[in-house]
Amino acid sequence: MKKQAALLRSSGETIGFVPTMGALHAGHLQLLRAAARQNSVTVYSIFVNPTQFNNAEDYRLYPRLLEEDVRLLEAENCDYLFSPAAADMYPEATLLKFDFGSLEQVMEGKFRPGHFNGVATVVSKLFHLVHPHRAYFGQKDLQQYTILDQLVRDLNFDVEMVCHPVVREEDGLAMSSRNRRLTSEQRAAAVHLYKALTLAAELLKSEEIPQVKEAVADYLSRFDLIQLEYFEIVDVKTLQPLAQLNQQVSTALCIAAYLGDIRLIDNHIMI
Ligand code: PAJ
Repeated sequence: MKKQAALLRSSGETIGFVPTMGALHAGHLQLLRAAARQNSVTVYSIFVNPTQFNNAEDYRLYPRLLEEDVRLLEAENCDYLFSPAAADMYPEATLLKFDFGSLEQVMEGKFRPGHFNGVATVVSKLFHLVHPHRAYFGQKDLQQYTILDQLVRDLNFDVEMVCHPVVREEDGLAMSSRNRRLTSEQRAAAVHLYKALTLAAELLKSEEIPQVKEAVADYLSRFDLIQLEYFEIVDVKTLQPLAQLNQQVSTALCIAAYLGDIRLIDNHIMI
């Protein structure tokens, strides 16, 4: 991959890179389309990264559908697929530990200890191997994007970061590889995470943050299949919870919940 990337760069190509863990859905493919529009060559990676799973069962059960994924990428005319084995990415255990301070002390970082260390490790490795001009990430994982953008700025990675809006199913559920594991009842209930976000956005026009948080918790408590983990109203840049809305600060509504043992996240940025 490194040799190929060097070859492409020396012949003047621009590399658009989309890192994923596979089990591709239309959201992933939209990132690829964005990469194809802005670069002469697209590189996709599929690697279910063991170091970012803080739950061994979640890693074991994560959908792995390489053949199906390859067909989807071929249909989209993706130029390169990089799909390394875990033993090649991690010939030995890594020792380096990332600490993103306040950015990772909230939300996903708080509930998934070690998660962003694994993400920053693998994305650093992938950036060194693929050496892209631009890299595409989804707003679905807002905190991941913010932390990786910080990583790139802190360590002068030579890559332009691009954040793509959340891609949703027709009913509003954010697309996710984990949605495949939902039973039909859980799938039907999952849309209420999105509905809770739209309810909160609406309520924020007239109510204070504590009331809105309470209303969201109340709303979701009506659905037995959903266990809310957190709902936060945060400053998009710092990811810190806001005590009250502020016109100067752009605000994100972020939610995480379990349906059975499947954990889903979503967010909405207020404009
Ligand atoms: P994965 O969950 O496979 O997601 C790959 C990329 O697709 C991420 O940037 C994610 O934010 C984006 N994505 C997923 N669902 C989306 C949706 N509904 N709308 C828009 N974008 C969406 O995120 C990871 O993999 C990993 O942590 C990775 C960055 C590859 C490091 O291992």
